[in-house]
Amino acid sequence: MDKLLINGGPALEGEVRASGAKNAALPILAATLLADGPVTLTNVPRLCDVNTTMRLLGSMGAHLSRGEDGRISVEPRTLTSFVAPYKLVKTMRASILVLGPLVARYGQADVSLPGGCAIGARPVNLHIDGLRAMGAEISVDGGYIRARAQRLKGTRLVMELVSVTGTENLMMAATLAEGETLIENAAHEPEVVDLANFLNAMGAHITGAGTDQIRIQGVERLDGAEYRVMPDRIETGTFLVGAAMTGGHIRVNETRPDCLDAVLQKLCEAGASISTGPDWIELDMHGRRPRAVDIHTAPYPAFPTDMQAQFCALNAIAKGVGVVAETIFENRFMHVPELQRMGADIRVEGNLAICHGVAGLTAAPVMATDLRASAGLVLAGLVASGETLIDRIYHLDRGYETMEEKLLTLGARIQRIVGNGATPML
Ligand code: EPZ
Repeated sequence: MDKLLINGGPALEGEVRASGAKNAALPILAATLLADGPVTLTNVPRLCDVNTTMRLLGSMGAHLSRGEDGRISVEPRTLTSFVAPYKLVKTMRASILVLGPLVARYGQADVSLPGGCAIGARPVNLHIDGLRAMGAEISVDGGYIRARAQRLKGTRLVMELVSVTGTENLMMAATLAEGETLIENAAHEPEVVDLANFLNAMGAHITGAGTDQIRIQGVERLDGAEYRVMPDRIETGTFLVGAAMTGGHIRVNETRPDCLDAVLQKLCEAGASISTGPDWIELDMHGRRPRAVDIHTAPYPAFPTDMQAQFCALNAIAKGVGVVAETIFENRFMHVPELQRMGADIRVEGNLAICHGVAGLTAAPVMATDLRASAGLVLAGLVASGETLIDRIYHLDRGYETMEEKLLTLGARIQRIVGNGATPML
């Protein structure tokens, strides 16, 4: 099991490029199942979750190939199976995203229930209820969602909760349904918009993506298409927080400043100077220690839950007290005990983490528990005195493309210890 060894201290300086967005690439790859033609995707990040999705589509009979430049070609017309097996789904719950496309295109799907994960129970009732409302017969037994349908019928869907992949699954299903579907209380996330843009590039008729009302006119078929995946706003935000924590000065290129308003606002509150261009964001902390900020996670465009752990790390070494409220997931503070091992003064009370900033953290062996928690631990390691060893970084590899290489170019002292490599004494 790989580990990361970080010798904290240097301020992050320089430029880095944002990779393609994991949370856009995954639904877009699932959406290729809807196409009646070959699809070429570019700017797809090299991530474990992307590899898992490619394996899943391949296991169903689709033909996929990956080029050197982040390009993935998909031939979905060779599909022979409509089953998403437990052995794959258990490693990546976003596999649920094949459910809508399979039912819409082939009238059948047997998808393993994704089950919970470290950050919460993460039910999929909204996905199932929405497909039932569109006419699918769905039973749940033996740990599988078994869906059958003639042609789905468009209808008005009012989402009880704002759900990103719930919105995505139902939007994909509606593209081939008979008639019009209206999704109310839809998720506004930029990745939902990116998926809608890809579906429209294939010939879908979707309007309103990015608002809480998405309207989809069903069509008979969708063509293949070429599409470039949007940049990753959470990866971008993670590097910006690293620069703010280390008192550095960085520029993130090939990114989308317009998708990070809530995060940039909090970084300014923390004392950073921020400038932006059409596809870049520059942060200068002028060697200063950040001020603590209060965070309240909520659906887009409010502050993203996927940036919560990173700001707990920032508040851990900031001046003052920052209160972090996590309103989306019920167990998303597992980075806190690990930060406490490094000397952080953070108290969790229900869905609040009260962070009293300390002047500095000290290195310690810590363990990653989920994707964004591991990002928070990396950031803490960048400022901790001494060598921090982070275990179970396969969590990190799910959502960050070559993170240690990018941090090295920014001046961090970081190295990956592969497998059972010798672990240096701390
Ligand atoms: C997406 O997960 C993202 N994953 C998550 O990113 C992100 O944290 C989350 O949205 C919130 O922004 C992908 O896009 C692949 P939800 P998703 O459905 O769609 C409840 C990362 O780190 N809910 O928006 O699974 C749910 O329990 C990952 O990249 C139901 O109750 O999240 C949660 O409390 C982590 N029933 C809330 O809604 C349902 O059927 C929002 O979840 C669906 C969701």
